[in-house]
Amino acid sequence: MSRLAPVSITVYPHECDADGHLNAAAYLQLFERARWETLARGPGMLVFRKHGIWPAVRKATVDYHLPAFPGDVLEVRTDLEKLGRTSMDLRQQARRPNDGTLVADAHLVLVMIDGSGNPTPVPEEISELFGTRVSTRSGEVLRYDVGDVTLAADVRGDGPALLLVHGFPLDRTIWKHQLATLAGWRRIAPDLRGLGVSEAPRDGYAMAAYADDLARLLDRLRVQRAVVAGLSMGGYVAFELLRRHRDRVAGLILCDTKADADGEDGRRARDEMARVAETRGPAAVAERMLPRLLGRTTQQTQPRLVQEVREMILRAPAHGIAGALRAMRDRSAANDLLGTITVPTLVVVGQEDELTPPALARGLTDAIPSAAMTTIAGAGHVAPIEAPSAVSRVFAEFLEAVRSG
Ligand code: MLT
Repeated sequence: MSRLAPVSITVYPHECDADGHLNAAAYLQLFERARWETLARGPGMLVFRKHGIWPAVRKATVDYHLPAFPGDVLEVRTDLEKLGRTSMDLRQQARRPNDGTLVADAHLVLVMIDGSGNPTPVPEEISELFGTRVSTRSGEVLRYDVGDVTLAADVRGDGPALLLVHGFPLDRTIWKHQLATLAGWRRIAPDLRGLGVSEAPRDGYAMAAYADDLARLLDRLRVQRAVVAGLSMGGYVAFELLRRHRDRVAGLILCDTKADADGEDGRRARDEMARVAETRGPAAVAERMLPRLLGRTTQQTQPRLVQEVREMILRAPAHGIAGALRAMRDRSAANDLLGTITVPTLVVVGQEDELTPPALARGLTDAIPSAAMTTIAGAGHVAPIEAPSAVSRVFAEFLEAVRSG
């Protein structure tokens, strides 16, 4: 979220056309006035000058939704959408202050220009001012307001979009190898609401909510369609995206997941685990889950990874974990969807996955007309982090086929 407060901007008569409306050129000026005003309330242009740079607008588009007239007062907020090395993509929204109706929004690309006129890296002070957290180890983590929650996401690279959806009770970092290596794709790895470092509301957890959050995240990133890779619970979310937002799904990678809903025993077990999370916290959940989450080989040969996954679970708030458990408990089966999937699909499974074993993956593959299957040796239920190079390689081959198909 932006650290910059919204500003009120009055529409001047000379900015309006003969019919009294703001036209596109005038809107650009209005948004520019709003940026100056926003900065004036904070550090002012000094924040750029002291770094010896100038933010040059290289691209600007305006979408307007409703007319605005002389004397109207619009509330304009400015948010960072994407942080590049030398550029920032900003979104500005002008709303009616009384009911919050969106009147117009602008998308801008600002390039930082040094004294010799060359692009120069965005100073951290400036990116932070616009509201990002920059993590040098696992890439940029940006925050996106997607309606009633704010999601954290790691967004990297350019090209067709690949949306990476993590499992339970994990976060976006299970995809760190794929994020780092799948060049030529715009890799988008969010933390689902209530997990990782995304906002964790007290309630509002359901597969539909996770899927709608992701559709809105794609909107925010101006991505129309993405190949969706979902691991386990991420696969359940991918099925829900198909149900609710099918036109956004360009291809599927179903990783260590299944289409069946929970049976009666399974639902009871979800309730019990939710109670464990709420009464004894994420550590107790980690103790119960870790032995079956990671494969035998990983448990024996990668103690640091076991520790990393434990820490990942400890990062999740207890009520986010409980919310996810209840969302999984209440999900419907996706078996009826499988025969209708026509986009290219890859099913990936760790050979040692005890939670969704290879036999289940085989059944899933056979039920989807457009699917192929790959088994990952030496990996369990979280194959992308247990056998990262092997998983990235099969992803890369599949994605290449999708791109050229
Ligand atoms: C996951 O990894 O997301 C979980 O194992 C899914 C589940 O418990 O059904």
